Amino acid sequence: MTIGTTDTVTERRPSGLELEPKQVPPAGAAMIDRYVFKRLARSSRRSRVLAERLTEPLHLNLVSAFVALFGSFRSKVNHDLIIRQQFAFPILHAADKAREAGLKKLTLVEFGVANGAGLLNMCRIAVSVTKVTGVEFEVFGFDTGSGMPAAVDYRDHPEMFQQNDFPMDVERLNAALPPFASLVLGNVADTVPAFLAKLSPRAPLAFVSMDLDYYSSTKTALEIFNGAPEHYLQAALLYLDDTVIETANPWCGELLAINEFNDENEHRKIAPFPMLRSRRLFKNPRWIEQIYLVHIMDHPLRTPGLRRPSHVIPNEYTN
Ligand SMILES: C[S@@+](CC[C@H](N)C(=O)[O-])C[C@H]1O[C@@H](n2cnc3c(N)ncnc32)[C@H](O)[C@@H]1O
Repeated sequence: MTIGTTDTVTERRPSGLELEPKQVPPAGAAMIDRYVFKRLARSSRRSRVLAERLTEPLHLNLVSAFVALFGSFRSKVNHDLIIRQQFAFPILHAADKAREAGLKKLTLVEFGVANGAGLLNMCRIAVSVTKVTGVEFEVFGFDTGSGMPAAVDYRDHPEMFQQNDFPMDVERLNAALPPFASLVLGNVADTVPAFLAKLSPRAPLAFVSMDLDYYSSTKTALEIFNGAPEHYLQAALLYLDDTVIETANPWCGELLAINEFNDENEHRKIAPFPMLRSRRLFKNPRWIEQIYLVHIMDHPLRTPGLRRPSHVIPNEYTN
């Protein structure tokens, strides 16, 4: 599906993980610094965070205050203390899976960059995850660079979004990005096929944040999961930003695009991350419902075979 105008594709190739301190917001121990307070100062965000945290058990909040001050990056992720926890959990999870599979590098993608705050958060988290796991990252942010294209019809939620919303200051954002991150500018109808041709098993796609707002754009962007099976983790992680808007429904927006993707692809299926709420210490954060897995059913690891010693279930009653 072709949407809106077509711009040229521009990329800066990633080269490593060296970051200058001013390029990304601070990581790790600086989680309760002025950056956090600045974000919490926005009243809508503050209300949501307060509603989510204050309805959790008191002892968990006390423990998490201690973790915020003295905890490791992993314990902060476990206690929902990272800015954009919806990126921190999946990126750390993907890196753990990559390590198990012997992979050294992963690809992360943000669809819908706008002013780039999310992309810079993603980069900062990637640096912290590399420190913890040793897994490195290439990060790509897809956007027109000029804001929303024209909506096609009611399925694009025109009651919420319109053409030219969310413009980007491309020069400023490019200057702020670390060397391992790039902008991929243009309509996703043009940029995704070109990007797909460049994905490789050297840095499989592990996590995608989807925030293009429109059904039409999301439908096109999901084509990113139609490459060769070894170009992905066997279950890549996906964050869906727009499933929480009040008018979200299965006949419009991201949910429609996901349903159609599942109908149209025999070997690629998108489903919610199973039992994620029960796996988390804090049960209320809204992002928990927005994390999905993209199952690569034809991935080499999903073909039957003998790859490891047999699992044995111990029986404590016969000992
Ligand atoms: C809500 S904004 C993204 C906000 C960003 N993720 C953040 O957290 O700050 C949605 C973005 O999607 C981009 N977008 C929508 N449709 C697109 C398309 N077909 N191709 C490329 N970019 C598109 C728009 O330019 C816009 O910047």
